[in-house]
Amino acid sequence: MGLAIAWRAAQRGLRVTVLERAAVPGAGTSAVAAGMLAPISETIATELPLMRLGLESVDAYPSLVEELSDASGLDPGYLRCGTLLAARDGDEAEALGREFELRQSLGLAVHRLRSSEARRLEPALAPALRLALEIPDDHAIDPRKLTAALAKAVTTSGVTLRIGVTVDQVNVADGRARGVRLAGGEQVEAEHVVLATGAWTEAVRGLPAEACVPIHPVKGQILRLHDPAGPGLLTRVLRMTGGYLVPRGDGRYVLGATMEERGFDTTVTAGGAFELLRNAFELLPSVTELVIDELSAGLRPATPDNAPAIGPGAVGGLHWAVGHYRHGILLTPITAELVVGALTGEGAIPDEFAPTRFAGVSAVAA
Ligand code: GLY
Repeated sequence: MGLAIAWRAAQRGLRVTVLERAAVPGAGTSAVAAGMLAPISETIATELPLMRLGLESVDAYPSLVEELSDASGLDPGYLRCGTLLAARDGDEAEALGREFELRQSLGLAVHRLRSSEARRLEPALAPALRLALEIPDDHAIDPRKLTAALAKAVTTSGVTLRIGVTVDQVNVADGRARGVRLAGGEQVEAEHVVLATGAWTEAVRGLPAEACVPIHPVKGQILRLHDPAGPGLLTRVLRMTGGYLVPRGDGRYVLGATMEERGFDTTVTAGGAFELLRNAFELLPSVTELVIDELSAGLRPATPDNAPAIGPGAVGGLHWAVGHYRHGILLTPITAELVVGALTGEGAIPDEFAPTRFAGVSAVAA
């Protein structure tokens, strides 16, 4: 999120410094994320503004990927694969039927498939499949490749990228952000400060309680696997109750993800891996043939209403790009556009995503 904002801001002529805590940019949640670009399949009926934001962001991906490949010389790992939502039993099929009707009523591209039709598209699916929805416009990107390409692009566009530095606090004077102080005491002055601090947002000090955006971590365990036989076992993203399997197009797969409220714990557990593999196995038995490369856990940055906080808040000169919860990779292009629009004084941010909507919540929590 921070790299994309920095890149777009530099393209608009702003002088930008990125302060990255890790040794490798994007080593936090981005490195763990599966990278589904799935506004149609992942947002739910009560989240229409979020779905609209996601649709706008997904539309921005093809041109962003092309521009980013040219700027970085790296492949951002975009795969136009489409998505299948699958039901395993009568209850799941009924729920999927409702999801189908809702999306159809919104004019979104979604096709209802009988088990045999779905298995013609993806022959490795189990006969146990009851019903599937095909969402041809929900694709995926490899967040690790995307982040590497963004890191290269920002440095070639004149952004100063400082890695291994921790922001301790935002310096506020006369109601306006003036820069930040790093752990160790170094001061970095700035006319504008953008916080793209994910699940760790509340660790940044210096802001009045009523100006803060409350963020809590939601843990997700996720498996990375590969097929020694090469690509082809599954060509579309497969989503099911309790998980998803995302193909990378080259024989690698990402199987995610648990949803756990465990603070900042990122341990990985046998139960987490078991749950993910059991869910996938019921629909794709050959998942057991895959080689496990990695089991990791990441922290989704969640706000109280599960929608992101984007743009200026209560403190002048301070902009937020936080709280993207399950949709950080999806919402990266649109968040960068909106934040850079605010930085340059153009464009408006929809009220649903205004950071100021949490004023009461933050003050009470404090
Ligand atoms: N967007 C996928 C997840 O949050 O697990």
